[in-house]
Amino acid sequence: MNEPVFLRACRGERVAHVPVWFMRQAGRSLPEYRALRGTGSILEAIADPAVACEVTMQPVRRYGVDAAILFSDIIVPYHAIGFGVDVVPGRGPVIADPFTSAADFERLRDLTDVDIAHVTETVDRVVKELEATNTPLIGFAGAPFTVASYLVEGGPTREFTLIKTLMHTQPLLFDLLLERLSDITVSFLRAQVAHGARAVQLFDSWAGALTRDEYRRFALPATERVIASVADLGVPTILFGVGTGELLDLMSSANSTVMGIDWHVELDEGRRRVGGRPVQGNLDPARCLGGVDAAVQGAREVLARAGSAPGHIFNLGHGVLPSTDPSALEAVVRVVHEEGMAGVS
Ligand code: CP3
Repeated sequence: MNEPVFLRACRGERVAHVPVWFMRQAGRSLPEYRALRGTGSILEAIADPAVACEVTMQPVRRYGVDAAILFSDIIVPYHAIGFGVDVVPGRGPVIADPFTSAADFERLRDLTDVDIAHVTETVDRVVKELEATNTPLIGFAGAPFTVASYLVEGGPTREFTLIKTLMHTQPLLFDLLLERLSDITVSFLRAQVAHGARAVQLFDSWAGALTRDEYRRFALPATERVIASVADLGVPTILFGVGTGELLDLMSSANSTVMGIDWHVELDEGRRRVGGRPVQGNLDPARCLGGVDAAVQGAREVLARAGSAPGHIFNLGHGVLPSTDPSALEAVVRVVHEEGMAGVS
């Protein structure tokens, strides 16, 4: 069977149309998601492979996107090993007993196949459903720094005070923590690929909170290690963070196949900063809130910045906002497929 356009674009090949998928394409913006999920915890939905598979498939059916992304969360492996995590609607991951000292490593053992059997069963089911259309599944994990920010802060934060204090006052403990998290991340990604994920994305969503020196010293080594430790699998890797304009050159030295560009940086400038490697992005999710015409106009601006160079995967510059009208995203997919320039020599 032909190699899907999404995978070929990740490798920088010239393809017949610009591939598109959306971060957080599964979720509260879809009425079919809200109907299926009800009010239970997202972790319960993820723990049920039939539900998680269905939620993964919903946006693929509705939008005709070029890739599926597994319905999961960056916090899932830590929930699975019993670190003590919940996900609070409207807030995000919350940790009852945050990481403060070396004693907490006892709650951070490596993953076994049994811990994440529900995830790999979901991957099996999704891969089987995607076979008919040869649509690739993207597996994912949180990058060590972003995960550490939740484990240390105890929940979402704007200031990152505790994690920055830890890195600057106890750098060796911080390094050991990121090393442990990178082992778990590698196990989690390898399991998803072993069960049929054909690409992986590493979300370093909050890396933009760091200075260049901090990123280089404290976050980059663990991310590099993760990417190097899945390289033998031969699947494309995508590295993404938010507010990372000042870090893109450093992040690209971690050597992912594709660099995610968030919405703060124009795509052509982002591509220059990552040395021309394939890029994914970067329509501002807020541009999709003004209806179909506003979203289409935003998409055309991104396509214009992408130009005719191969190696562009269209996406938003961060996740779909819950109040997005799905018809705006349907229109974006249509415009990207019809008007994207990457296929035109
Ligand atoms: O992209 C997809 O469609 C796949 C699903 C996905 C989820 N989380 C499901 C989810 C992905 C890729 C993630 C990754 C994730 N989770 C990240 C990295 C991406 C990013 O946004 O930067 C981060 C930082 C998290 C942590 C997290 N989990 C947050 C901040 C939230 C939102 C809290 C809220 O309710 O607004 C969650 C919960 C979550 N994960 C939801 C979904 C669909 C919404 C909660 C729900 O539906 O109950």
